[in-house]
Parts: sequence; C-alpha cells; structure tokens
Amino acid sequence: MKKIGLKTALITGATSGLGLALAKNLLQQSDIQLILPVRNAQRAKELQLALTVAKPNQVSFPTMDLSNLASVRAFAGSLKGSLDIVMLNAGTQSATQVIYTDDGLEQTFGVNHLAHHVLLSNIEQLLSPNAVIGWVGSGTHHPELAKTFGYTGAHYIAPELLVKGEFPNISDNSQASRNAYSTSKGLNILSARHFAPINPTRRYFSFDPGLMPGTGLAREGGAIQRLAWKYILPTAAKFMKGTSTPQRSSAALAEILLRNKTINSGDYVEFTGHILKPYLPSNEADYAKQIFDFSNRYI
Ligand SMILES: NC(=O)c1ccc[n+]([C@@H]2O[C@H](COP(=O)([O-])OP(=O)(O)OC[C@H]3O[C@@H](n4cnc5c(N)ncnc54)[C@H](OP(=O)(O)O)[C@@H]3O)[C@@H](O)[C@H]2O)c1
Repeated sequence: MKKIGLKTALITGATSGLGLALAKNLLQQSDIQLILPVRNAQRAKELQLALTVAKPNQVSFPTMDLSNLASVRAFAGSLKGSLDIVMLNAGTQSATQVIYTDDGLEQTFGVNHLAHHVLLSNIEQLLSPNAVIGWVGSGTHHPELAKTFGYTGAHYIAPELLVKGEFPNISDNSQASRNAYSTSKGLNILSARHFAPINPTRRYFSFDPGLMPGTGLAREGGAIQRLAWKYILPTAAKFMKGTSTPQRSSAALAEILLRNKTINSGDYVEFTGHILKPYLPSNEADYAKQIFDFSNRYI
C-alpha cells in the first residue's frame, strides 16, 4: 500500500548516465517510489546493485525495450496506481550510420521520440493532475550550437521520411544518422510544448543537460568516437562552455521534477537553470499536428 503523500516517479533509461544519476539523486533527497523500466533481467540486476541507497521495495525494475513498441505497450498496460513524475530520459545515438529498430523504424526517431510518445499516451490515465513530465533535449537540435560536433541541427521534415531515416539531398549515411539524432531531440522539445496547453494543471518541460561526456551515449559510435567520448572529452570538457556531468545535470533536473524550481509548462530548461529558446519549426503548430497525428497511429 502506497503511503499518503509518497510520490511515484517513472524514469526511462536509468541504467547509466543522466538517468542513473537522477535515480540516485531522487532516492537520496526524497521519500519516493521509483519505477525504472529496463531492457532485460541482466540490466535490472546491474541497476539494483548500483542503487545502493534504495530501501527494500522502494524501486521496481520492470522490463521495457523502447526499440520494440509491443514491449512499450505491454509495459504501459501493466502499470497500476498514479504517477506524479515521468522522466522520458532514455536516448540512443549513432553518429556513424543510420540504424533501424526491430520494428523497422529509424532508431532515434523510434526510441527517443516515438516509443516515449507511445508510452506517455498509454499511461495518460495514470498521470496525477499535478504530474510533472519531462523530456531530454540536446544542444545538437540547434543549428548554431550543433556545428561544433559536425551536426546541423534538427531537420523538421515529414514524419514519413524521419521514420525511414531519409533526409533530402543527404547521401552520407553518417550525416543522416546525426541529423536523425538532432531531429529526435528537437521532437522531444516539441513534445513538451505540444502537451503543455492540452493539460494545464500538469507541468510539461524539456531539459538540456549540457554536454556530459563519458556517459553510455556514444556506445554505438565508431571506435575512435567511443574512445574520445569516454577518455578524452571528459578532461577537455572541463575547459569547454556548456559542459556538465550527470551528477550536476541530474541535481538540476531533480529540482524541476520535485517542483522545487518553478518553471512554466512547456519550457526548455538548461542544466544551469536558465530557460532556453529552442530552435523550432517555423510553422510549429502545423508541424506538431503532422508529427503527432503520425505518431498517434503507433499508440
Ligand atoms: N551525454 C550527453 O552529452 C547528452 C547531451 C544532451 C542530451 N543527452 C540526452 O540525455 C539522455 C541520457 O543520455 P546519457 O548521456 O545519460 O546516455 P546513456 O548513459 O547511454 O543512457 C541512456 C539510457 O537510455 C537507455 N536506452 C537506450 N536505448 C534503449 C532502449 N531501446 N530501451 C530501453 N532503454 C534504452 C539506456 O539503457 P541500456 O543500458 O539498456 O542501453 C540507458 O539507460 C538521452 O536522451 C540523451 O539523448 C545526452
């Protein structure tokens, strides 16, 4: 039986990086119930070991693979009770080639955007009236900020192309994979803005965690990219603007999720606490309609 006043939080992607740091942070500072879906039993075991501060029965580790929409629907259908916090944090990136999920969807569109959309839509009835719901954006969605790492920002093109990982006039597979990632992050930002006016009592937001080198995010990159991400960039990052660590960013994120920091629903918030102006499609309302009409077909 849930204690009165005890919050329940669902966090995707808590096995490493930002999600893991966030789970630890919430456990340390709040009497909270955590639901941390993971891809398989092995990941569940590893995560349980990593969360040394969790009390017995405070955390559950159900199975959900975001690259398989049937698994997402099954997980959502198995949930009971109400949710006060939903952090759609899980993310995948391939900066070398376009990859497809088992469902045949371009992976970053499928996992970062679509699976989270399907998940949220299927748990809508469980969200408490004051629920806080977050997505993770990225500087790579912004053409100006993206340049440093060979990204060109979000490409707000037709969802029918995004789902196939096809970008007009781009034949370079690695550039297409970077465009796909940046765009999926743009869609994460757009999602918060789309839902905010629909449910005014809840708080929807997106979050820029800054560059956090050393996390698992580069795992699908090439050998050199993985090496640089894990060993070189964490040191170089100390001297670069806009960089952070999972610990620092998760602390800022926890403040928003626990409603200790006041923001407006729909805001895009940086790890520093600043509200950022995201790069959006010029026809935001029409484009959002296209994206969400298309995404709703997968619910
Ligand atoms: N690191 C950065 O510099 C940076 C910058 C801007 C934004 N971000 C965003 O921050 C978020 C967290 O990234 P991170 O850097 O912490 O990366 P990370 O360490 O790789 O964490 C990603 C998490 O997502 C999970 N995940 C990936 N694919 C999944 C799937 N198909 N099903 C279920 N879970 C899946 C991973 O689980 P597994 O262990 O099972 O793979 C892992 O728990 C992402 O949305 C990323 O786009 C990161």
